[in-house]
Amino acid sequence: MLNIQKCAIIGTGFVGATTAFALLRSGLFSEMVLIDQNREKAEGEAMDLSHCDPFVRPVNVWAGDYCDLVDCALVIITAGANQGPNETRLDLVQKNTRIFGSIIPQIVRYNRECILLVVANPVDVLTYVALKLSGFPPERVIGPGTVLDTARLKYLLSEHLEVDSRNVHAFIIGEHGDTELPVWSSANVSGVDIADFCRSCQKCGDMACMKEIYDEVKNSAYEVIQKKGATYYAIALAVLRIAEAILRDEHSVLTVSGLVSGHYGLDGLCLGLPSIVGRRGIEQTLDVPLDEGEQQALEKSARALKEVIDQLEL
Ligand code: 2OP
Repeated sequence: MLNIQKCAIIGTGFVGATTAFALLRSGLFSEMVLIDQNREKAEGEAMDLSHCDPFVRPVNVWAGDYCDLVDCALVIITAGANQGPNETRLDLVQKNTRIFGSIIPQIVRYNRECILLVVANPVDVLTYVALKLSGFPPERVIGPGTVLDTARLKYLLSEHLEVDSRNVHAFIIGEHGDTELPVWSSANVSGVDIADFCRSCQKCGDMACMKEIYDEVKNSAYEVIQKKGATYYAIALAVLRIAEAILRDEHSVLTVSGLVSGHYGLDGLCLGLPSIVGRRGIEQTLDVPLDEGEQQALEKSARALKEVIDQLEL
């Protein structure tokens, strides 16, 4: 039987450790297992996090082994090579698929009921790899998809339009990577169409700045990696947000990555689409209307991912 208060994080690099800290602060779990091939690193992180004990709701954090996954409700995989300054996310595919080839069977050996949250990059391809290697039902294999890109879009729009990012309703969908796309056709600020809001804001007029904002979203990770070597705070909160939606059965709409079966005419790959997320994982993928240009851009994004997936030996 699963313990919904217990999670595991596999990989305690920047993203894994920051995610562990975000989860610890949230009080969502009372038990957290950290697994890393570098055992000492996992032990160091577990010790450091345990010393937070008097300041937070108590969480039992320890450096464990795969057998500790046995009753974990959520297993988060951050292990894998990171994107370097001159690499795209897709450049990591061979290395990280190989790493998944050793991690996923060990997870499945001890736990076939959990939800797998795949955070390593290229996230859409690795979510597909995890799905195939685990044999889990598609709703229980999830990637953060474009949740982080959507957050970046909301933030940049909020800065530009001078309105709270929580009142900006807009999505980035597709690959978490170079072919991702914004869905401007349904973007709005609390019900006001983004184009109308943009016109009344009178800064640039007629959505002229939107292309720049989209480019900035798409290139955010490259810029942060160039400046500080890695991104980890925002992805950690994106993972926390998804974990909350799952464990609290919130039925939240998030642009997670999951298996696409027929939506927008696409099949046989994982990519980010607005989906309802709850205790069962991905409960439903929404068919948010797209205009013709957006549909074409989504198909292009899917083709880019499919090309990579088709070369994998799974
Ligand atoms: C990010 O977008 C690198 O995928 C990571 O921050």
